[in-house]
Amino acid sequence: MAQSSINRRRFLTASANIAGGAFFAPNILRSQSGESPNNKLRIACIGIDGKGSSDSGAAADGNDIVAIVDVDTDRLAKAQKRFPGAEAFTDFRKMFEKMSDKIDAVTVSTPDHTHFVAGMMGVQHKKHVMVQKPMCNTIWEVRELHKAAKAAGVVTQMGNQGRTMEGQRLAKEWVDQGAIGTLKEIRLWTNRPIWPQGPLKKVEVPAPANLDWNVWLGVEPSEPYFEFDLTPEDAKKAKRGKSVQPFNWRGWWQFGSGALGDMGCHIMDSSFSILHQAIPVKIEAESSEITDTCAPVWSNLRYHFAASDQHPALVVSWNDGIKDGKPNKPERDERVPQGAFDKASSGMMFIGTEGVIFEGDAYCASPVIYPLEHFNEVKKSMKEGTIKKTEARSPKPGEPQKEWTHVVKNGGTTSSNFDYAGPLTEFVSLGNLALRAKETIVWDKEKMKVTNTDAPNKFIKRPSYRPEFFKM
Ligand SMILES: NC(=O)c1ccc[n+]([C@@H]2O[C@H](COP(=O)([O-])OP(=O)(O)OC[C@H]3O[C@@H](n4cnc5c(N)ncnc54)[C@H](O)[C@@H]3O)[C@@H](O)[C@H]2O)c1
Repeated sequence: MAQSSINRRRFLTASANIAGGAFFAPNILRSQSGESPNNKLRIACIGIDGKGSSDSGAAADGNDIVAIVDVDTDRLAKAQKRFPGAEAFTDFRKMFEKMSDKIDAVTVSTPDHTHFVAGMMGVQHKKHVMVQKPMCNTIWEVRELHKAAKAAGVVTQMGNQGRTMEGQRLAKEWVDQGAIGTLKEIRLWTNRPIWPQGPLKKVEVPAPANLDWNVWLGVEPSEPYFEFDLTPEDAKKAKRGKSVQPFNWRGWWQFGSGALGDMGCHIMDSSFSILHQAIPVKIEAESSEITDTCAPVWSNLRYHFAASDQHPALVVSWNDGIKDGKPNKPERDERVPQGAFDKASSGMMFIGTEGVIFEGDAYCASPVIYPLEHFNEVKKSMKEGTIKKTEARSPKPGEPQKEWTHVVKNGGTTSSNFDYAGPLTEFVSLGNLALRAKETIVWDKEKMKVTNTDAPNKFIKRPSYRPEFFKM
């Protein structure tokens, strides 16, 4: 089910619905009514460095970045040079308080645990939202944010850029139209984590003076700032040091989603679309040592999908990390050349009876079919029109931020709107549920519940939310 395009009338309806009514129509609307000469959206960017740097840069194309928010004042000062006209904040709550009537849209490029609260605040203020991947780091949050965005009628997007690319569309068209025969199995892998992960201990240290640690923690309980207790050998490998932030929060369940959550929304994306957005019914998991606080250094998962009108029952497998000193890759399909397989630190194989689609990166940007003679036949069929282009193309391939602002202004459908991104993130996150359960789980998506054992159900939602950030 695709999120329907937002047309101007619907936008106005969404705008009019806001509680209290104090809402300024976006520039795009004011320009139509003659109040504003430009056709620019007024965008607030939450999380301005790291991924936020490229997200804000792309969103700025043809629009005004009117507010920037970052918990790190050094990073904020750096960004102020890029956006001198933007008002700067260290607390997104204060930004919404002061700027709600002056912004049309919000990007959220913070660590995973803040996607929900910042995205939800945006949606509650009836702003169009683009949230980085994974949409949230608990399944309950994904569902709540999806529901709220739908009710608000705003344009949504998750930052999984592969979803906007040509390659993902081709791979789906090939499978849908029988180019590789019957799809039997999908194998996915990544070399992540490339950050400290596995059983880690917190070592309390003073928070950097330039950091608002309280806002960084957000909905999570208050706790002292910390670094990781790394062995000298692991410390040498930790390219980004041993502080929990920036970047290094990924391996902690509280803040990140492990290697799977980090890369799954990219690498599982084409599988999700090829499987017609189905949700797995059972997930098997094995991994290196795993704790209640940290994701493992390697893991193997088997997601079982029920038979559908399009496919027989099949398994999507996932391998990550380094196991026994070697990249933890799946078995190569013998039709894929050894050289191409060896080069791929992340990748995917869609294994069919008459060919295998291989992609040696995370986004499915340039998939090929092996054997190559068969690929040549498929290309000929595409030229002749016997294999058709059936998938809608993105107006901004590779640029989810620009696609999102384009859709807000012109109508249409974003490639990774929350109708798509929500269930995709759920598919990915179910692997983490199985890992944390340390056993096979059976998933009932209607009940949002693991049904064969109760223990992992406590991981579907964060144990608590600090009320000053989010009230239930
Ligand atoms: N789509 C992609 O290819 C891609 C690539 C990298 C990262 N990401 C995603 O982007 C997000 C950010 O990752 P990152 O590596 O840039 O992380 P990061 O730790 O570098 O944080 C990004 C920025 O957000 C700021 N920040 C942290 N908490 C904040 C808060 N509460 N309010 C405002 N600002 C806050 C940080 O100071 C930093 O400037 C993650 O969800 C990650 O999964 C996506």
